[in-house]
Amino acid sequence: MDKKTIIITGGAGFIGSHVVRLFVDKYPDYKVINVDKLTYAGNLANLKDVEGRPNYRFVKADICDFEAMHSLMEAEHVDGIIHLAAESHVDRSIRDPFIFAKTNVLGTLSLLQAAKLYWESLPEKYEGKRFYHISTDEVYGALELTHPEGIEPPFTTKASSGEHHLAYGDTFFYETTKYSPHSPYSASKASSDHFVRAFHDTYGMPVVVTNCSNNYGPYQFPEKLIPLFINNIRHRRPLPVYGKGQNVRDWLYVEDHARAIDLIFHKGKDAETYNIGGFNEWKNIDIVRVLVRTVDRQLGRPEDEDMDLITFVKDRSGHDMRYAIDSTKLQRELGWEPSLQFEEGIEKTVRWYLENQEWMDHVTSGEYMKYYDEMYKDR
Ligand code: NAD
Ligand code: DAU
Repeated sequence: MDKKTIIITGGAGFIGSHVVRLFVDKYPDYKVINVDKLTYAGNLANLKDVEGRPNYRFVKADICDFEAMHSLMEAEHVDGIIHLAAESHVDRSIRDPFIFAKTNVLGTLSLLQAAKLYWESLPEKYEGKRFYHISTDEVYGALELTHPEGIEPPFTTKASSGEHHLAYGDTFFYETTKYSPHSPYSASKASSDHFVRAFHDTYGMPVVVTNCSNNYGPYQFPEKLIPLFINNIRHRRPLPVYGKGQNVRDWLYVEDHARAIDLIFHKGKDAETYNIGGFNEWKNIDIVRVLVRTVDRQLGRPEDEDMDLITFVKDRSGHDMRYAIDSTKLQRELGWEPSLQFEEGIEKTVRWYLENQEWMDHVTSGEYMKYYDEMYKDR
């Protein structure tokens, strides 16, 4: 394995911290530089176990700071960039879209331009270099819920078994699906994807883009459905289900996403797009019921005791009905597949949040809770 110096942006966030950990553990000869601004979503406690490792360095910086990005790449002789830093929460983007355009669009452009300037100054230019942009399935828009009760195979897949894994429509998002973002968040991610591809087409930069479905697992900020609801069930707070809870998401355990990123960073083809997803569609209301059951059981409470915490609230504006990713290309070309069944992943995830209450208390304390109450005051 060649020695490489790579920047991972957003490494203190949810997915980024799993990617940093995997690279630091697996590639002792690499230098892994985590560039993170430490917004509300960035937390160095997510990486306590890698702190102080000789192949790891943390740099607190804003990706929008072009000069800082360029100097860092030059000083560290960076060969690869795995770009995860972003504003990532749809509800926040509805309230405050500007920061999404700034970080997700201008921040990505600033990184691209810094990498271009640095790599084009080298004798070997783009040889052995790679800019890997992590995007989302939300850029494809929303699929219809054509089978609200769920359907039998062929739409279910290997990773699927049992009633909760039935798919709810007759098509997936493919790599070729036309972009049709609806929220300010997905519009900003779509725009950044276009910039990344434009840098390949215009300057020949070696890029790769992946579009992944909903992730779950440890260290996810509790504004997102799964950790928010686990914490609320624990504290017997209401569970605010948007609309009727009929929206469908395709869930993937975060470590499986990190493994896919490792594989694609090393083996993916330049200028390609790969979809990443678990073939694991669930309606929100079914997930919420599983969470109530799992948390109650793990806490030794009577089964289903907290089902009455479920509270249907005003729907999210422009709420996408269904996401479902077809990740056949990644499975066929690079041999990746999800390692965990959803039940196993949820069991592990609930246990992690219940055993790491200190982490949860820290990220939900003080300023954050004020922001949270303000953000959701009218729902
Ligand atoms: P997150 O919100 O947990 O973490 C984002 C990280 O980026 C934080 O550490 C934050 O401090 C950092 N950051 C934000 N603005 C920055 C800036 N200007 N400069 C430097 N760092 C900055 O996000 P996540 O859920 O881990 O998502 C990571 C990436 O994966 C995002 O690009 C997101 O669009 C994409 N994605 C997420 C999911 C998901 O389900 N969470 C699914 C598909 C794709
Ligand atoms: O699909 C990938 C995307 O998944 C990522 O690109 C985003 O960064 C990530 O946040 C996630 O977006 P979602 O909007 O799907 O995730 P969220 O956890 O916010 O919501 C999941 C579903 O649950 C969605 O249909 C809205 C619903 N929901 C969410 C919250 C926070 C509720 O019903 N109540 C809630 O309180």
